[in-house]
Amino acid sequence: MESSTKADKYVKVSIDSETESPPSVNESIGASGPRLSEKTYQQVDKPKMRSEFEDGLVEENSGYVENSPTKKRKLDVDVIVEDSDEGVSKKRKLERGDLSEDEPSGGVTQRKRKLQSEDAAEKWKKLEEGHSSTVAAHYNELQEVGLEKRSQSRIFYLRNFNNWIKSILIGEFLEKVRQRKNRDLTVLDLGCGKGGDLLKWRKGRISRLVCADIADVSMKQCQQRYEDMKCRRDNEYIFNAEFITADCSKELLAEKFHNPEMCFDICSCQFACHYSFESLEQADMMLRNACGRLNPGGYFIGTTPNSFELIRRLEASETESFGNEIYTVKFQKKGNYPLFGCKYDFNLEGVVDVPEFLVYFPLLTEMAKKYNMKLIYKKTFLEFYEEKIKNNENKLLLKRMQALEPYPANENSKLASEKVGDYAHAAEYMKNSQVKLPLGTLSKSEWEATSIYLVFAFEKQQ
Ligand SMILES: C[S@@+](CC[C@H](N)C(=O)[O-])C[C@H]1O[C@@H](n2cnc3c(N)ncnc32)[C@H](O)[C@@H]1O
Repeated sequence: MESSTKADKYVKVSIDSETESPPSVNESIGASGPRLSEKTYQQVDKPKMRSEFEDGLVEENSGYVENSPTKKRKLDVDVIVEDSDEGVSKKRKLERGDLSEDEPSGGVTQRKRKLQSEDAAEKWKKLEEGHSSTVAAHYNELQEVGLEKRSQSRIFYLRNFNNWIKSILIGEFLEKVRQRKNRDLTVLDLGCGKGGDLLKWRKGRISRLVCADIADVSMKQCQQRYEDMKCRRDNEYIFNAEFITADCSKELLAEKFHNPEMCFDICSCQFACHYSFESLEQADMMLRNACGRLNPGGYFIGTTPNSFELIRRLEASETESFGNEIYTVKFQKKGNYPLFGCKYDFNLEGVVDVPEFLVYFPLLTEMAKKYNMKLIYKKTFLEFYEEKIKNNENKLLLKRMQALEPYPANENSKLASEKVGDYAHAAEYMKNSQVKLPLGTLSKSEWEATSIYLVFAFEKQQ
């Protein structure tokens, strides 16, 4: 159960980032895309029929990952909420009256004053809210697209690849739980979005799922998807589910559960926990929601951008941003990366920018200890891929989910990217090896987007 009821005023962090060993530039960009092409598979035409996994393709994806900063930095910090929270420091500025500094000393009409105070109140409200409402609005506006449209997307394979990563991660940790407990598995899907993982939970034969997300439209779609699944497969068992619309970085979910005593074997937070790193209090609330109700031996698993990779790419860039035609990441400035509120705008496929926050992973690990959580697994997507692809079942799943693009394209299809050089790695590989064609690969641009992320798992200590 939860170890604390109120967020600590401060958390002590003593982190030496030299212990991190980031992949080299070549490994994470130049060579890691190409490595994907080592695996061959038969080329399949894009889907006409719905398959189990196709149905579960993720429609929302932020693309990010972490790698180590070019400069090794040693952090030895006492993080105090008020000093580290951008919102709070701005709040102080408001308190000092900066908003009305151009107000003439006499003669301001009452009406003008009223407008000014309304304006200030509005600004106050925005600062209080932080970026949560922008994030919710962004996800609410994302349209659900059908399979056909999805298969035409420039990032069709990137999404499938990310979805494959999640499938493997979820499958493996459900299996671990099952070794101890064979029935009544319970899961919390934190930041569940439109329910891109519902099929994974059904496949994993769980008993109960609690879905939570800040975006109410997404939650409705998620619930509808669940109802549709129930109707479509009426003779097949499906878990019970409940759906909670809440800002998981500000509200305590436990107060909203149908069963106030509800506990979980797994909390899964896919591509979502970085939104809470706007402030220490928000990150702590997210962790409290994720881990506070885990059974002993339970797992908190997820995927999140790798801050080391983000900073490495930022510092290699001549500007405050980096990316390619698929994604862009825009920081406010270089060289100063606060532990909380280090905002950057993420843009995928030209859709609007979403504000996200850097998650310095050693800090997350440290903060999770408060909830009795121990980090047991952390890999970049590349490392994860290389580890998991050795298993034949995972390889088959990769093929079924169309998580890699067949290269070269056949006469009836064309490659996802038209950019010269986006498949140079695969072309090179084809030249040098006696491989069976077509290869399976990702275009360089897609690889650059997906290789920002990492996979993690924490275990609740007994
Ligand atoms: C990239 S999507 C991932 C969705 C889903 N987990 C998946 O993998 O398909 C991120 C999700 O996090 C949700 N989110 C962001 N901030 C949140 C918060 N403070 N509380 C709850 N959900 C949040 C968004 O609404 C969005 O649905």
